[in-house]
Amino acid sequence: MKIAIIGVGNMGGAVCEGLFNTGMDASWEITASDASLEKLELLKAKYPKLDITTNNQEAAKSADVVIVAVKPWLVKPVVEELQMTPSQIYVSIAAGVDFAQLESYTCLKGQPMFRVIPNTAISDQQSMTLICKCHTTAEQDELINQLFGSMGQVLFIPESKMAASTSISSCGIAYVLKYMQASIQAGIELGLTVQEARKLTIQTLIGAATILKEHGQHPATEIEKVCTPGGLTIKGINQLEHDGFTSAIINAMKVSM
Ligand SMILES: NC(=O)c1ccc[n+]([C@@H]2O[C@H](COP(=O)([O-])OP(=O)(O)OC[C@H]3O[C@@H](n4cnc5c(N)ncnc54)[C@H](OP(=O)(O)O)[C@@H]3O)[C@@H](O)[C@H]2O)c1
Repeated sequence: MKIAIIGVGNMGGAVCEGLFNTGMDASWEITASDASLEKLELLKAKYPKLDITTNNQEAAKSADVVIVAVKPWLVKPVVEELQMTPSQIYVSIAAGVDFAQLESYTCLKGQPMFRVIPNTAISDQQSMTLICKCHTTAEQDELINQLFGSMGQVLFIPESKMAASTSISSCGIAYVLKYMQASIQAGIELGLTVQEARKLTIQTLIGAATILKEHGQHPATEIEKVCTPGGLTIKGINQLEHDGFTSAIINAMKVSM
């Protein structure tokens, strides 16, 4: 299978890294195209098997799957120059560009298309990737499921849920990182070294996520277990609420959809 990735900035670059880091199927060939030769050369130095070009049309020409990861406002001019054929699968990684818009570009009318929204953990095969589809066959759905499933978890959703889901998982990774940054900062103020605060923060987050993932509990049940009556944790939890923690998270997720 031949895969073209057009635009290898933060997200396209992470997808490219994720594919190589999976130790992917030896028969897969990946070509990356970008406006920046410097970015392409950096990736090539890391993954010598990657083909690179600054010519988008050349990258897409013989690809089975064309992944476009440029900024939303560049999607139209970029896809118009690709001259895709009906047998090629178009994968759009552009937040907020819906199928109605994509279909309004004559070159994509009737094209098998997927909208795919990973998060940046895709470079380490830990993405939560959202997928919705248009004009695709069951075989094409399975192919895309396998491709992105090799780099984390995937969830096929109707397009109507894409904006809300993007806010939770794709923007959400930044909010989780923000919490982690705050936790490390607190640790340093309390006298820990950066390394100590980092280690404690990372493993605590992994632990919390593992509990929910493995046992299917509601977070409130797990929080209750940590909050001894009259103890220290309940003081911290109440302080979080006084300072608007829950509202801040909900508001952030609402404004980012
Ligand atoms: N970042 C995320 O976490 C994330 C998550 C989900 C979805 N997305 C979506 O992913 C897309 C890309 O976002 P990003 O954050 O990866 O942006 P980015 O870092 O700016 O990457 C876009 C890349 O495309 C290149 N480019 C610009 N014009 C081009 C052209 N005509 N042909 C080929 N390449 C071109 C850019 O090069 P120059 O820098 O030289 O212009 C850049 O390397 C967006 O549509 C965004 O909505 C991003």
